[in-house]
Amino acid sequence: VPELRTPLVGARFSLSAGVPDPRLFPRAALARAYRRVLQSRRGVRSLEYAEAGGTPALRDAIATMLRSTRSIPATGDNILVTRGSQMALELIARALVSPGAVVAVEHLGYQPAWRAFAAAGATLGGIPLDAQGLVVEAIPAAAGCVYTTPHHQYPTTALLSPGRRLALLERARRQRFAIVEDDYDHEFHFDGRPVPPLASNDRAGNVIYVGTLSKTLAPGLRLGFVAAPAPLVATLTTLREVIDRQGDHALELAVAELIADGEAQRHTNKARRIYASRREALASALQRELGHALAFELPAGGITLWARVADGIDLERWQARAFADGVAFSAARDFALDRRARPFVRLAFARYNEVELATAVRIMARALG
Ligand SMILES: Cc1ncc(COP(=O)(O)O)c(C=O)c1O
Repeated sequence: VPELRTPLVGARFSLSAGVPDPRLFPRAALARAYRRVLQSRRGVRSLEYAEAGGTPALRDAIATMLRSTRSIPATGDNILVTRGSQMALELIARALVSPGAVVAVEHLGYQPAWRAFAAAGATLGGIPLDAQGLVVEAIPAAAGCVYTTPHHQYPTTALLSPGRRLALLERARRQRFAIVEDDYDHEFHFDGRPVPPLASNDRAGNVIYVGTLSKTLAPGLRLGFVAAPAPLVATLTTLREVIDRQGDHALELAVAELIADGEAQRHTNKARRIYASRREALASALQRELGHALAFELPAGGITLWARVADGIDLERWQARAFADGVAFSAARDFALDRRARPFVRLAFARYNEVELATAVRIMARALG
């Protein structure tokens, strides 16, 4: 797996990370929920050792949310709460991958997941992409597992087409491979309703579904989850206990309250409206300032935009100069197994307001010269 490059940390504007705006987070509501929890009997219990798989209140709240908004037929027994989806991916890799096994990954794709599979000894095989998402026929015949981001492919934002979804599920059933579905930004779909996950249509039981609260709430809370058949959840929970006895149950209880009383959903709805308008703001600033340099379509969802860079532009040099002037952004090679350059950039828009985005784009335009 290629080296993770993190030299772009510390810029005034980081358009590299697809993260939410922490200024919008309902801090007062979480503080109230946390206080309620800690002052109750549940709060006292939450200070003792407890279930490694997560507090039942949060597992039930997540299962209810998956049933009602994503058509995934889960109960609390199908849910393992993890510290972010990264821990979920690590546990799944440990459980599923034996050294030398082939794990097929979208290429371009999400390096942190690749690293978890590689650490478990996997050989990674890249699956090519086109405008409809991953090309199912190109999945290596030896694949024992496929890692995919079908809702808004990371990083291209392509939505896996209905035909490809059926073909992928059918191929998994025939070839008997597991599909790890990373539905990292399910709620942020702007054009129409979110597309139901593969896991909602998984009759053969091949899909392991991974979700996160990093985008709808905040990445610093480190809350993610797996939804899978109960026996696999039990295996993953045993593995989790080895590295991290349990999660933070007081926090889990407080977040379960935010979900149960509708606060989390209200916040997500509000954030979706705001991010939709930031998506427009970024697109119009790019058209205005960089129309000659970048070609793109508005993403139907997600919190990043994927743009093609015009011929003749030295992308590395542009990135470096923009970074020196205070704007970090990612280029295709940051998402490539082979680390080869390709003429694309990824720009995240949720973290900054319209004025900040316009400033960042002006800096990018100046850096291009
Ligand atoms: C593809 C993908 N999966 C998962 C995540 C979330 O990771 P975590 O839940 O560990 O914060 C992200 C966040 O950037 C992501 O882009």
